[in-house]
Amino acid sequence: MMPRQLTTVCATVLLTFSIAGLAFAQVSTRHMQAVQQKSFGTQDGRPVTLYTLTNVNGVEVDTMNYGGIILSIRVPDRKGQFADVVLGHEKLEGYIPNPPYIGAVVGRYANRIANGTFTLDGKTYTLPKNDGPNTLHGGVDKTFNKVVWDGEALKGKAGVTYTYLSKDGDDGFPGNLKLRVTYTLTNTNELVIDYEATTDKATPINLSQHSYFNLAGEGTGEILNHEVMINADRFTPVDKNLIPTGELRPVKGTPLDFTTSTKIGARVDDTYEQIALGHGYDHNWVINRNKGDDGLVLAARVYEPTTGRVLEVTTTQPGVQFYTGNFLDGTVTGKQGHVYKRRYGFCLETQHFPDSPNHPDFPSTILKPGETFRSKTVFKFSAK
Ligand code: BGC
Repeated sequence: MMPRQLTTVCATVLLTFSIAGLAFAQVSTRHMQAVQQKSFGTQDGRPVTLYTLTNVNGVEVDTMNYGGIILSIRVPDRKGQFADVVLGHEKLEGYIPNPPYIGAVVGRYANRIANGTFTLDGKTYTLPKNDGPNTLHGGVDKTFNKVVWDGEALKGKAGVTYTYLSKDGDDGFPGNLKLRVTYTLTNTNELVIDYEATTDKATPINLSQHSYFNLAGEGTGEILNHEVMINADRFTPVDKNLIPTGELRPVKGTPLDFTTSTKIGARVDDTYEQIALGHGYDHNWVINRNKGDDGLVLAARVYEPTTGRVLEVTTTQPGVQFYTGNFLDGTVTGKQGHVYKRRYGFCLETQHFPDSPNHPDFPSTILKPGETFRSKTVFKFSAK
């Protein structure tokens, strides 16, 4: 018989080992299950899968192969409290249709093309118009936000790759365009988005991600309290149809100057003509970068004072559309029955400039056969 004290010691040691073992098992399971998948319904007769990316800090991103949509991003605040910081829906049906493009990959041409037309190599192309006289976010039919992509979870990483073939003539665009979009969640709380494309005919291409953020938590109200810094000395002013006039105008002395961090609400309803035309902020900023540098640079940093959450956006793209959800009007009900009203979310859509195919002076958006389009954007979350 073991003396009582020794029995207790042995039991304690055993218990400690099993608790440690359990904790180890949990950590390694977490690592092993960096991507979880589940069936999420069908669309156009094709299966839709929900992928949940998880990192070692417990940050989680839900995304699906329908539209490459990001459904939720759960990140901690300064006290370690988690909240979902993007607008969205709990079910696939919520996204059909999805007029505000919530969470989606947008293309073949993100943002606007004036009068739904452009000329390339002497040929004029006509696109469907879905925004007054313009084509917005690629048109109406097989736009990237509402087609079923192929999805494949990354191995040994919290990530997923979506691929899609956009056919020659889809929505009026030339060329079979092979697309690849990869979302990777790192252990430093970055959501990295890699875009890649090749074509068999010259075509304009502009790809972006249309998540609406509210760093206080989706559905908690207007985003006017968020403090925004945009790393841009110039923006592309627009006409009444939100088409760039062609000018690259200095932000200095205008309510579009976010070179120092400023609350969105401070000037969002300013009488400045450009703000009136955009019904708030809905403009493309020209990101500051050194000539010849096509690497990642800071586009914007956003701070939410009540929670301390920070979103930092870096990109290889030349522009960013800062859109303050001016057209959200309470007609969309999202997660947990939250009604998404005007300015309940903001977007930072990294991109080439709107209507570039009709502006030879803007950085080119033409992808040619034999070339590979590559771009990268990183959404980094932290708290202070
Ligand atoms: C545009 C807005 C538009 C929104 C939803 C943004 O990229 O700039 O004008 O309302 O997308 O379509």
